[in-house]
Parts: sequence; structure tokens; C-alpha cells
Amino acid sequence: MSQLKAIALSGSLRKDSYNRKVLQIAKKIAAEHGIDVLEADLKELALPLYDGDIEDKYGLPEPVKKLKDLVENADIVIIASPEYNHSISGALKNAIDWLTRTNNSLSKKVAVIFGVSSGIYGTVRGQNHLRQILTALNVYIVPQPQVLIGPADTAILPDGSLNNPKTQELLESLIKKTIEFTTKLKA
Ligand SMILES: Cc1cc2nc3c(=O)[nH]c(=O)nc-3n(C[C@H](O)[C@H](O)[C@H](O)COP(=O)(O)O)c2cc1C
Repeated sequence: MSQLKAIALSGSLRKDSYNRKVLQIAKKIAAEHGIDVLEADLKELALPLYDGDIEDKYGLPEPVKKLKDLVENADIVIIASPEYNHSISGALKNAIDWLTRTNNSLSKKVAVIFGVSSGIYGTVRGQNHLRQILTALNVYIVPQPQVLIGPADTAILPDGSLNNPKTQELLESLIKKTIEFTTKLKA
């Protein structure tokens, strides 16, 4: 079977984002399991806000086409999602909305989702929303484990690593299970 490919996304745009930091750990774990991993930086892509008038007049904007190509070329989408007001970030929702235009680029992909928040609940409410959205888009997500990381300032060390080895183990377990599931799905 051909090598599995993954595309990694952070729902937080900020440069020093905790979610970006944990995304780097997830990318490394996936690569260590033989996955060909690329990252799509939503800040660099600078997608416009979804607007049906732009779509009607000009079609899909270039950065949207680029993101859709990256996602369509991947088997697995790895998403580090912050929690904003008990939901996902506007940047991530906007990217997902564009990804479903013309065709649903996410359909039949397998997603790894996790998140870091400053609160003690570690994005549980945001992740539930993300799970609901992705399920509606025909994306497979392994049910367990859930990787909920918080509070960020103690969970993430200054070098970007995870303070609690159990969190690292959970993330590894989530990625390993997702790879096993994807391999079976593609067989
Ligand atoms: C608009 C906004 C809403 C937020 N809402 C929540 C929230 O609902 N729950 C929570 O635990 N943290 C919330 N936070 C705090 C984030 O968890 C914190 O800023 C975190 O560091 C964001 O992730 P990042 O470091 O990857 O940017 C919010 C932050 C922002 C900017």
C-alpha cells in the first residue's frame, strides 16, 4: 500500500500559539510512524472570509484552491484546535467552510483532533463542536482517546514540549489508532 499522507492545520493563527506547538509534536509523531506530513499554515494562506458573492463573481480564491489541493492529497487531516468561546476559532471554521465549496474536500478523510486551551477543560467544548462539524462533512474520527490539553501555561513547557508524559502518550495513542484505522479503511 502507498505511504499515507497527512496535512496538519492549526486553528490558532498566532505565532506563539500553544496549539501550533503541540501541532509540531503531532507532526513528529506521525512522521515517526511513516506518515508523509505537510503543514498548511492558515495565517500564511490568509484565506478571505467566506462570502458567496466572491465565490459567485470570481470562483474559488487562489489560497482556497491551494488548501483544497493540500487536503485532497492527504489521507489524514491533523487539526490542533483552540477553544474560542466554547467553540472552534473563526479561522478554522472559515477554512472548513471554504473546503466544502464546489466539492467537499474533507469527505472520507480521517481526522486527528486535539487542542490546548488556557482553561482547565482543555478545549473539550470546542472539540465537541469540531467533531460535530467534521461528522456532518463525512470525516472519520476515532472516538478515543480524546486529547484535551490545559491549562496551557503549565501543560506546555517553554521549549514547546508537553509537561505531562501521559499527555504525550495519549497523543501518540490517538495518532497510532488513527493510522491503523486509515490503513484498514484504505485496504
Ligand atoms: C476569542 C477567544 C475566546 C476564548 N475562549 C476560550 C474558551 O472558551 N475556553 C478556554 O478554555 N479558553 C478560551 N480562550 C483562551 C484560549 O484558550 C487561549 O488564548 C489559548 O492560548 C488559545 O490557543 P493558542 O495559544 O493556540 O492561540 C479564548 C481566547 C480567545 C482569543
